Amino acid sequence: MIHIKDLSYRIGGRPLFEDADLYIPEGHHVGLIGRNGAGKTTLFKLICDELQPDAGEIMLPKHWRIGLVSQHPPSGDRTPLEEVLASDTEREDLMQELNKTPDPMREAEIHYRLIEIEAHKATSRAALILKGLGFSDEDQLRPLSSFSGGWRMRVALA
Ligand SMILES: Nc1ncnc2c1ncn2[C@@H]1O[C@H](COP(=O)(O)OP(=O)(O)OP(=O)(O)O)[C@@H](O)[C@H]1O
Ligand SMILES: [Mg+2]
Repeated sequence: MIHIKDLSYRIGGRPLFEDADLYIPEGHHVGLIGRNGAGKTTLFKLICDELQPDAGEIMLPKHWRIGLVSQHPPSGDRTPLEEVLASDTEREDLMQELNKTPDPMREAEIHYRLIEIEAHKATSRAALILKGLGFSDEDQLRPLSSFSGGWRMRVALA
């Protein structure tokens, strides 16, 4: 599933990884443990291609989708429901474009794609996910700033 070979990576001259090897077979569930600042998030960024290794290779199966929950929970005035809906960036982009495009052909294409991704069910899907994570109907409509860090972390997961 993930194969890392001879990985080296430094931040500000300080080595976080030196000739590190890792092999995770398909189907395994793995937790990564280390003290604060050890380099866990950095390793995830390397795996997700956000950072480039100084040396070595990270091999992943092609066309795999990687799901990632940020270490920083979302905050602000948006509600959990709005936050989850906004994470569906394709739908958001299409809706915005629909309001702007002067081209009727493009408009038709956008409508077709919105049907394909079942955009009309997005709100009920988001509500169902949030419900499954413990948010009542009222909670889903309260601003994120009124939730604790742990609850906002659940929104990130949703
Ligand atoms: N952009 C950066 N510039 C300079 N140093 C950085 C940067 N990002 C991370 N570091 C340093 O790299 C080291 C590893 O950071 P990283 O965020 O990977 O740690 P972590 O294991 O995820 O820690 P935590 O348990 O606190 O989440 C830390 O010492 C951090 O200070
Ligand atoms: Mg981290």
